[in-house]
Amino acid sequence: MNLPNLNDARTRTKSPTIIKRDEYQVPATIKEIGKNKYYCIYTYGCQMNVHDSENISAIMEDMSYTKCDDMDQADVIILNTCAIRENAHNKVMGMLGRVKHLRETKNDIITIFCGCMAQEETIAKELKDKYSWVDIVMGTHNIHKLPEYLEKAINTKKQDIEVFSIEGEVYEGIPVKRDSKYKAWVNIMYGCDKFCTYCIVPYTRGKQRSRKPEDIINEVKELVQEGYQEVTLLGQNVNAYGKDLNIDYTMANLLEDVAKTNISRVRFVTSHPWDFTLDMIEIIAKYDNIMPYIHLPLQSGSSKILKKMGRRYTKEEYKKLFYQIKEMIPNCSITTDIIVGFPGETEEDFHDTIDLVNELKYDLAYTFIYSPREGTPASVMEDNTSLEEKKQRLATLNELINKYALFNNQKYLHKTVPVLIEGPSDKDNKLMGYTDTMKLVNIKADEKYLGKIVNVKITDVKTWSMDGEVIND
Ligand code: SAH
Ligand code: SF4
Ligand code: F3S
Repeated sequence: MNLPNLNDARTRTKSPTIIKRDEYQVPATIKEIGKNKYYCIYTYGCQMNVHDSENISAIMEDMSYTKCDDMDQADVIILNTCAIRENAHNKVMGMLGRVKHLRETKNDIITIFCGCMAQEETIAKELKDKYSWVDIVMGTHNIHKLPEYLEKAINTKKQDIEVFSIEGEVYEGIPVKRDSKYKAWVNIMYGCDKFCTYCIVPYTRGKQRSRKPEDIINEVKELVQEGYQEVTLLGQNVNAYGKDLNIDYTMANLLEDVAKTNISRVRFVTSHPWDFTLDMIEIIAKYDNIMPYIHLPLQSGSSKILKKMGRRYTKEEYKKLFYQIKEMIPNCSITTDIIVGFPGETEEDFHDTIDLVNELKYDLAYTFIYSPREGTPASVMEDNTSLEEKKQRLATLNELINKYALFNNQKYLHKTVPVLIEGPSDKDNKLMGYTDTMKLVNIKADEKYLGKIVNVKITDVKTWSMDGEVIND
């Protein structure tokens, strides 16, 4: 048993990134352990977790398990959790209640609790003390060890908690079962060293560590061979890519090399404004296959609050970067994240955020009420604003964000734009896909267009999506 420890989780040494290539193995004894058995996986949180779930799925299938969507049918239930805000946390605990209920009639189900919540000291302890029926608690650093843990759990029927509060390494050679045949997530780095004062991620994911350029490029080249149209380069702070590798190679270099693989579309998330360089902007502008879309989290429009958040930029610096991007990358859409109700945010600070949103007119924004995370510096800062007031601020902000989302979408009406058609839409038997600028489009089109980038004429626009029709064959 290994329990997480908050103090170890925040430790950062100067040790170099270690890359391990041969750690993942499925012993012959368990290669067929999942024959005629089913697993289901519930994923919460960011793209990083979505991609981890693709790894976990592949590992389960290496042990002959078959995926199912329905908990009632599953022999193994996996919760891949997120710790970013209290409501992510509550959703997972609700789901755990459902699993417990199911176990009352089917007690041979194996439950696996993994992801960022497992890395939290208090959660792991709670799982140990109050949820001893959860078979495996596994952190974010040791997914590749799942076969070993599963074999042990099946044989011993005892709870095993294996969570390590370490800086972490890079593991190559972990299999992946991708959800899409057209778009792929590609990790370029893990962890984060920014330690924004509100954020749990540096504690749950370890230090910032980059994959080697050649490993990333080779993965993308393979994806091109397999017919993939789009890659999204993933990391908590992709702009800092390479800084831990002691090689003279940056995110701008990586973007250029990935673009040169000739994959049709390159995207990347998430960009911290602090590490965004002019070189990067130039490369994005230079290559047609790097999409004109940037997610540029603002967090707050008040320089005072930004300082308290530890974001390392002022409102003015952010604006300068924003306008440089808009000037150098024609047609670039920019989205953002904003937190309201950070400790000490006054009405005036909130109005700074509102003013900035009015000025920058984002294409879209993800907005959140600040949620204290245990162990982070902000969680002990004085906070005098009531929840009611924070909810009011969120509502005011959302109204504005929606207004500008629609305003930006309206510019697309009757225009023709390229869309990668990727699957069925939720609405009226249509297909859906995204424009190069990351606008969601629902399209009445034949299934023969699936996986293709086609020209689509926009016939109607809404706040969150658009409708369109294919105009060429
Ligand atoms: N690495 C990314 C963000 C990852 S978390 C970046 O730096 O931009 C995604 C978003 O969740 C953040 O941008 C922030 O807006 C929000 N978030 C993170 N911690 C939060 C907290 N404690 N309370 C509310 N929102 C939070
Ligand atoms: Fe969290 Fe800040 Fe790191 Fe983003 S950059 S993951 S907000 S600590
Ligand atoms: Fe959540 Fe962990 Fe991602 S806390 S947002 S799943 S890195």
